[in-house]
Amino acid sequence: MEYPIISKPNSYDDVLEPNLTNYEKSVQDFDWQEMRNRLNGLPSGGLNLAHEAIDRHVDLGNGSKVAMYWEGSNGEEETYTFNDMKAQSNKFANVLSKLGIQKGDRAFIFMGRVPELYFAFFGILKVGAIAGPLFSAFGPDPVKDRLLDSGAKVLLITPDLRNKISNILPDLPDLEHIVVINKNNRHENPLQDGDVSYEAEMESASADFETVNTQEEDYSIMHYTSGTTGKPKGAVHAHIAALQHMATGKWALDLHDEDIYWCTADPGWVTGTSYGMSAPWTNGVTQVIYEGGFRASDWYQIIQKYKVSVWYTAPTAIRMLMKAGDQIPGRYDLSSLRHMCSVGEPLNPEAVVWGQNVIGMPFHDNWWQTETGAILIANYPVQDIRPGSMGRPIPGVKTAIVDDEGTEVEPGTEGDLAVKPGWPSMFRTYWKNQEMYDSKFKNGWYLTGDRARMDSDGYFWFVGRADDVINTAGHLVGPFEVESALIEHPAVAEAGVIGKPDPVAFEIVKAFVSLHDGFERTDKLRNEIMGFVRSKLAAGVAPREIEFLDSLPKTRSGKIMRRLLKARELGLPEGDTSTLEED
Ligand code: PRX
Repeated sequence: MEYPIISKPNSYDDVLEPNLTNYEKSVQDFDWQEMRNRLNGLPSGGLNLAHEAIDRHVDLGNGSKVAMYWEGSNGEEETYTFNDMKAQSNKFANVLSKLGIQKGDRAFIFMGRVPELYFAFFGILKVGAIAGPLFSAFGPDPVKDRLLDSGAKVLLITPDLRNKISNILPDLPDLEHIVVINKNNRHENPLQDGDVSYEAEMESASADFETVNTQEEDYSIMHYTSGTTGKPKGAVHAHIAALQHMATGKWALDLHDEDIYWCTADPGWVTGTSYGMSAPWTNGVTQVIYEGGFRASDWYQIIQKYKVSVWYTAPTAIRMLMKAGDQIPGRYDLSSLRHMCSVGEPLNPEAVVWGQNVIGMPFHDNWWQTETGAILIANYPVQDIRPGSMGRPIPGVKTAIVDDEGTEVEPGTEGDLAVKPGWPSMFRTYWKNQEMYDSKFKNGWYLTGDRARMDSDGYFWFVGRADDVINTAGHLVGPFEVESALIEHPAVAEAGVIGKPDPVAFEIVKAFVSLHDGFERTDKLRNEIMGFVRSKLAAGVAPREIEFLDSLPKTRSGKIMRRLLKARELGLPEGDTSTLEED
């Protein structure tokens, strides 16, 4: 089916200079250096994201503006102004300093979306340390991998999550302090031997702190992301990324002073930091943080209650809202909404149009990834939407489709989506893995790992991943991690993991497993293996389907051929099987 272009939805067009109404000219004339003047910088001359996002607004006299409306999963409500955010993050910076945390140290956060997570995050940046947020649904294995690799010195955690991962703590030689946050006294006995109590330390900490004079290129945040092989890699970002967050917050998200903004992403993933912290707050915008999970009625209720005007969410959530029913939005007053955006997976044109028909405005798809740190391609509020397309590149960034040699191809041709290095929010390295970082570049291009096409008007259309990485509900899953967890189960001899297309989650994790002699292929065993992986990794990462096979197809060198498993699953041609192991 053909989806017609949706012409300019309602929006301001005083977005930001350049305001992209004359897109070609804006792109041509753009200069990051000029945009750089929109950031304040630290009094001592450096740059720090915490200062740009929080303290700057206090300095400019906007300290009493609400920065965060928080709604807890038990219905608790809390409100924090920029003054509060400054004071709380200063206090936490003092707590960290007292613990001996210094510039360049890694400080990790493993907890759900409570206000303290945000205070801690900016406190970490203020001492010049590198913040590493972890997805709170992770089980012990992914947490251990990340803390070990990063050499984290301090971990912030809630009592329940501390219990969940207590078995890995003795294996972390670099971890010096565990700071436990007992939000609203939810736990009776929160502390264990050697723990630091967040509440006790914060109570006695001073609310004055002079942010460490970090420079533009100093590291600020690291997010682990999965690849085809090996353990996840820590993509490291620099403080100057704030510049691109601020600019794209205007160009793509259409953020304005009076907006109430809601980003549904968890801060354990890059969308939750770049667009759940940096973009709204560098723009001085009020945002809603909702601790609860997905439920269609709860989500519409949040929009109604807080009068959300700009909403940034993800395709799986949108498809779940579609599934919940077209009549449900009508039961709520959603008239506060002005602009809706989506990221993380392909947004099918039906979903764009559903937004238009049922909520009254289309979803604007945009594209980026952990490594790019911020939006690079977007459907802008001031431009027509081509449903199904990710949009066009932001000013100051050159993206292209390249062939295997890294040469640009003609419009309409499928190839690798590539970006010319040098944009402000680009990752600076993979932590302690420069070799892997270097392998991402070819012929002067950064290769994103995505396959795409560009049409003759410069719009980009997603085709698929170039590698075996699985995208389930917007979370990238490395098949190797799941396979490694599977073969730790005593019954499993071999495992091969693929992404199986799914109408809601885009892909689900499917595992093919062969068993050791003596184990029977029963549903009971299948469920047991699923539960085993779920408790090690996370519910969303564990296979949703397991199929037993006698043996798995392997190359002569013994590598499991995931592509073949996938082709067989999809009933597609099996391609080149010349390296297949002979039985
Ligand atoms: O494959 C692309 C897909 O998600 C990947 C990035 O995932 P991650 O590093 O976790 O970053 C999340 C922050 C966006 C991309 O390489 N992806 C992202 N946006 C889109 C997308 N696929 C299709 N359409 C999109 N708009």
